[in-house]
Amino acid sequence: MAVPIWNESFSVKVKRCDEDHKKLLDIIQRLHDSVIARHGEIDTKAILAELVDYTETHFKTEEGMLEQTKFPGLERHCQQHETFKAKLEELKQSMEYAPGDTPMAILQYLKNWLVRHIKMVDCQYSAHLNANGIH
Ligand SMILES: [Fe+2]
Repeated sequence: MAVPIWNESFSVKVKRCDEDHKKLLDIIQRLHDSVIARHGEIDTKAILAELVDYTETHFKTEEGMLEQTKFPGLERHCQQHETFKAKLEELKQSMEYAPGDTPMAILQYLKNWLVRHIKMVDCQYSAHLNANGIH
Protein backbone atom coordinates (compact mmCIF):
# COMPACT_ATOMS: atom_id res chain seq x y z
CA MET A 1 0.00 0.00 0.00
CA ALA A 2 1.64 3.18 -1.14
CA VAL A 3 0.67 6.37 0.62
CA PRO A 4 1.19 9.35 -1.66
CA ILE A 5 3.70 11.95 -0.54
CA TRP A 6 2.13 15.38 -0.35
CA ASN A 7 2.57 17.44 -3.50
CA GLU A 8 0.98 20.59 -4.92
CA SER A 9 -2.01 18.62 -6.23
CA PHE A 10 -3.02 18.18 -2.56
CA SER A 11 -2.89 21.90 -1.79
CA VAL A 12 -6.04 23.37 -0.26
CA LYS A 13 -4.50 26.88 -0.46
CA VAL A 14 -4.38 27.25 3.32
CA LYS A 15 -0.86 26.84 4.68
CA ARG A 16 -1.76 25.43 8.08
CA CYS A 17 -4.04 22.77 6.55
CA ASP A 18 -1.48 21.84 3.92
CA GLU A 19 1.11 21.32 6.66
CA ASP A 20 -1.33 19.18 8.65
CA HIS A 21 -2.22 17.08 5.62
CA LYS A 22 1.48 16.47 4.89
CA LYS A 23 1.94 15.31 8.42
CA LEU A 24 -1.15 13.04 8.39
CA LEU A 25 -0.06 11.34 5.16
CA ASP A 26 3.37 10.87 6.66
CA ILE A 27 2.01 9.30 9.86
CA ILE A 28 -0.21 6.89 7.89
CA GLN A 29 2.80 5.86 5.82
CA ARG A 30 4.86 5.26 8.97
CA LEU A 31 2.03 3.30 10.55
CA HIS A 32 1.77 1.13 7.47
CA ASP A 33 5.56 0.59 7.33
CA SER A 34 5.63 -0.29 10.99
CA VAL A 35 2.91 -2.90 10.56
CA ILE A 36 4.59 -4.43 7.50
CA ALA A 37 8.02 -4.53 9.12
CA ARG A 38 6.49 -5.95 12.30
CA HIS A 39 8.36 -3.38 14.33
CA GLY A 40 6.53 -4.62 17.33
CA GLU A 41 3.40 -3.75 19.08
CA ILE A 42 4.80 -0.84 21.08
CA ASP A 43 6.14 1.08 18.08
CA THR A 44 3.01 0.51 16.05
CA LYS A 45 0.77 1.55 18.92
CA ALA A 46 2.80 4.72 19.46
CA ILE A 47 2.39 5.69 15.81
CA LEU A 48 -1.32 4.93 15.95
CA ALA A 49 -1.63 7.13 19.04
CA GLU A 50 0.18 9.88 17.13
CA LEU A 51 -2.30 9.51 14.27
CA VAL A 52 -5.28 9.70 16.64
CA ASP A 53 -3.87 12.81 18.34
CA TYR A 54 -2.90 14.60 15.19
CA THR A 55 -6.20 13.83 13.52
CA GLU A 56 -8.03 15.30 16.51
CA THR A 57 -5.91 18.46 16.45
CA HIS A 58 -6.17 18.90 12.71
CA PHE A 59 -9.94 18.42 12.52
CA LYS A 60 -10.40 20.90 15.37
CA THR A 61 -8.25 23.47 13.59
CA GLU A 62 -10.04 23.00 10.30
CA GLU A 63 -13.53 23.00 11.81
CA GLY A 64 -12.60 26.10 13.83
CA MET A 65 -11.67 28.00 10.68
CA LEU A 66 -14.85 26.90 8.92
CA GLU A 67 -16.99 27.84 11.90
CA GLN A 68 -15.34 31.20 12.39
CA THR A 69 -15.93 32.12 8.74
CA LYS A 70 -19.45 30.63 8.67
CA PHE A 71 -18.69 28.14 5.93
CA PRO A 72 -22.05 26.96 4.52
CA GLY A 73 -20.93 23.31 4.29
CA LEU A 74 -19.70 23.15 7.88
CA GLU A 75 -22.11 20.55 9.18
CA ARG A 76 -21.58 18.12 6.34
CA HIS A 77 -17.86 18.61 6.58
CA CYS A 78 -17.86 17.81 10.30
CA GLN A 79 -19.93 14.67 9.64
CA GLN A 80 -17.23 13.46 7.26
CA HIS A 81 -14.61 13.99 9.93
CA GLU A 82 -16.70 11.90 12.33
CA THR A 83 -16.68 9.02 9.82
CA PHE A 84 -12.89 9.06 9.75
CA LYS A 85 -12.64 9.23 13.53
CA ALA A 86 -15.01 6.28 13.90
CA LYS A 87 -12.94 4.20 11.48
CA LEU A 88 -9.77 5.18 13.31
CA GLU A 89 -11.38 4.05 16.55
CA GLU A 90 -12.25 0.74 14.87
CA LEU A 91 -8.59 0.30 13.92
CA LYS A 92 -7.50 1.16 17.44
CA GLN A 93 -9.90 -1.38 18.94
CA SER A 94 -8.81 -4.12 16.54
CA MET A 95 -5.17 -3.51 17.36
CA GLU A 96 -5.98 -3.49 21.04
CA TYR A 97 -7.73 -6.85 21.01
CA ALA A 98 -5.73 -8.64 18.35
CA PRO A 99 -2.23 -7.17 18.43
CA GLY A 100 0.02 -8.35 15.64
CA ASP A 101 -2.99 -8.80 13.42
CA THR A 102 -3.58 -5.29 12.08
CA PRO A 103 -6.49 -5.19 9.68
CA MET A 104 -4.87 -3.82 6.55
CA ALA A 105 -8.29 -3.21 5.05
CA ILE A 106 -9.00 -0.54 7.66
CA LEU A 107 -5.58 1.05 7.17
CA GLN A 108 -6.22 1.08 3.43
CA TYR A 109 -9.64 2.63 4.02
CA LEU A 110 -8.11 5.41 6.13
CA LYS A 111 -5.52 6.18 3.49
CA ASN A 112 -8.07 6.25 0.67
CA TRP A 113 -10.46 8.32 2.75
CA LEU A 114 -7.81 10.92 3.56
CA VAL A 115 -6.59 11.28 -0.02
CA ARG A 116 -10.15 11.59 -1.33
CA HIS A 117 -11.21 13.94 1.46
CA ILE A 118 -8.32 16.35 0.87
CA LYS A 119 -8.72 16.37 -2.90
CA MET A 120 -12.50 16.42 -3.16
CA VAL A 121 -13.90 17.85 0.07
CA ASP A 122 -11.29 20.05 1.74
CA CYS A 123 -10.54 21.81 -1.54
CA GLN A 124 -14.15 23.08 -1.48
CA TYR A 125 -13.31 25.50 1.34
CA SER A 126 -10.21 27.00 -0.32
CA ALA A 127 -11.91 29.94 -2.04
CA HIS A 128 -14.15 30.59 0.96
CA LEU A 129 -11.30 30.71 3.47
CA ASN A 130 -9.05 32.72 1.15
CA ALA A 131 -11.86 35.26 0.67
CA ASN A 132 -12.02 35.54 4.47
CA GLY A 133 -8.33 36.31 4.68
CA ILE A 134 -7.17 32.82 5.64
CA HIS A 135 -4.35 31.58 3.44
FE1 LIG B 1 -11.57 18.20 6.31
